[in-house]
Amino acid sequence: EHIEWDIEAAEKGGFEHFMMKEIFEQPKAVRDTITPRIRNGHIVLDDITLTAEELRRFTKINIVACGTAYHVGVVAKYAFEELLRIPVEVDVASEFRYRDPILNENTLMIIISQSGETADTLAALREAKRAGCRVLSVVNVVGSTIATESDDVLYTWAGPEISVASTKAYSTQLAVIYLLALYIGEQLGKFTQEQLSAYIAALEKLPEQIDEMLKHKENIQFFASKYFNASDMYFIGRNVDYAASLEASLKLKEISYIHSEAYAAGELKHGPISLIEDGTLVIALATDARLFDKMMSNIKEVKARGAVVLGVATEDKKEIAGQTDMVFYIPKTASFMLPSLSVIPMQLFAYYVASMKGCDIDKPRNLAKSVTVE
Ligand code: G6P
Repeated sequence: EHIEWDIEAAEKGGFEHFMMKEIFEQPKAVRDTITPRIRNGHIVLDDITLTAEELRRFTKINIVACGTAYHVGVVAKYAFEELLRIPVEVDVASEFRYRDPILNENTLMIIISQSGETADTLAALREAKRAGCRVLSVVNVVGSTIATESDDVLYTWAGPEISVASTKAYSTQLAVIYLLALYIGEQLGKFTQEQLSAYIAALEKLPEQIDEMLKHKENIQFFASKYFNASDMYFIGRNVDYAASLEASLKLKEISYIHSEAYAAGELKHGPISLIEDGTLVIALATDARLFDKMMSNIKEVKARGAVVLGVATEDKKEIAGQTDMVFYIPKTASFMLPSLSVIPMQLFAYYVASMKGCDIDKPRNLAKSVTVE
């Protein structure tokens, strides 16, 4: 018993939980995923066989995944549509399977899965293959069923993820999505060399930016210490900030058992604003410069009804401090890459809240790391 404990402590590398260890592994994991695929100012995806000619044939992209991987899919929709102008549909696998989706050989199917074994995701893959789609998967576990059955695989080089709550898998899946978007964009001639270089520079900078944010984890710990007793929390954002809100809310509820919801900020007035009262905690992700002013109005709306607001904004938007109770600033990057940075304080927040509540962080109740049954 004593020896086992020592082994587990050693595996955690000095961290109290695998989740925190994995949060801190993100700079390296993202770097390992990106670096081998950028050469001489170009995206090189040796691992896939799709030719430029085949890429030109695709009239639609479908993305299917579950849980955290689905939230990567939501970011991917924004990124692909912005950069490639190809329509993208994103579904959770259990819905996709039973909605008789419209698919054909001109559809590129992208499957995202850390384990490569999720039952509904695998079934969706098989459904897509039957319909004649080209299937590309983004997978962490080498040789998993989804990897084996796909036409192409892009591995996330995250290493084993032990904590049930996914962190470094999310970050590396995002990195692969950006690589893929830039690769397809380059193949289809969507960028000038200047634009491509700027995107690649932004991508290569992510690991050090994540590292820098992790150095300020105490700010998030402090905020968590004030509000970990809350019974409900609401995450709001627009565009990619909305996508990141979905993941932030899932992380929190998974491990802290606090009721939380993510809302597209513009939808507040269509329902959830009725839930805001004195002291309700709202976490406002306002990192997208194009929508910053809209987010400021939403923050004012909830503040006027008594909400306590944690703002997450890029470091050039100091004016948010005047409207919020606390701000966590993140570095600037290309707009579609923002979730890679905004998710970091959100992972830390979920972790600290769960820790202060005394929850079993690495093994939350009722959840499994890999869901291989329907
Ligand atoms: C489970 C895990 C989640 C994960 C989801 C999809 O629900 O608890 O963390 O996001 O499955 O798993 P996958 O391995 O397909 O990414």
